[in-house]
Amino acid sequence: MSFDRSVKIAPSILSADFANFGEEIRCVEAEGADWIHVDVMDGHFVPNITFGPATCAAIRPHIKTVMDVHLMIAPVDPYIEAFAEAGADVITAHVEAGAHIHRSLQAIRATGAKAGVALNPGTPAGAVEHLLDIVDLVCVMTVNPGFGGQSFIPLEKKVSQLRAMIGDRPIHIEIDGGVTPLTAPGLIRAGADVLVAGSAVFKGGSVANPAPYGENIRAIRAAI
Ligand code: DX5
Ligand code: ZN
Repeated sequence: MSFDRSVKIAPSILSADFANFGEEIRCVEAEGADWIHVDVMDGHFVPNITFGPATCAAIRPHIKTVMDVHLMIAPVDPYIEAFAEAGADVITAHVEAGAHIHRSLQAIRATGAKAGVALNPGTPAGAVEHLLDIVDLVCVMTVNPGFGGQSFIPLEKKVSQLRAMIGDRPIHIEIDGGVTPLTAPGLIRAGADVLVAGSAVFKGGSVANPAPYGENIRAIRAAI
């Protein structure tokens, strides 16, 4: 997975049909998705439960692009190896998930996966300042993690601060939560390059009728 700063749209399968992930992934990739965002929730760090490493391993063969695994779990460390073995290209852990995020990020990198660090809306940009030499991606949550379809929390200033802090380092800035054609332009202007979008991509479509997925992805791209 080589680094590039072009804008990437990463549909979140949290908004897909859970009984049909393989086909949903094929459809959104055919309709223009750049990465596939996979939301792992534990009912402890966040008030919702999705799935774990076994499901990630099962969907891996269906992903031709990049498998971007967002861990909303605590603790993180006991499960890193399992998500890496499941084939994740990027594994993102929350800075709030435990006392030793630095160790978690080192452990992610040691598996060969790219290491991401996510920030809840209330966590300042400075929380990642001393992690920038060991991360490949910073994920700015623009909703409180746990559910798709929530309203966007405007944090463009935090994104700009991170962009300045990151400078020329090969680190992606990803936005997760409430991304739509209306919110995307300000986020890209502030310096983001990966836009996660769940409801804004999957709305109106299905595996039987995937054309809306493409229209939705193109609407986000056209807005920026
Ligand atoms: C929220 C998840 C997001 C979510 C985004 O906890 O991390 O990835 O799926 O959904 P939308 O785009 O609908 O806000
Ligand atoms: Zn996510």
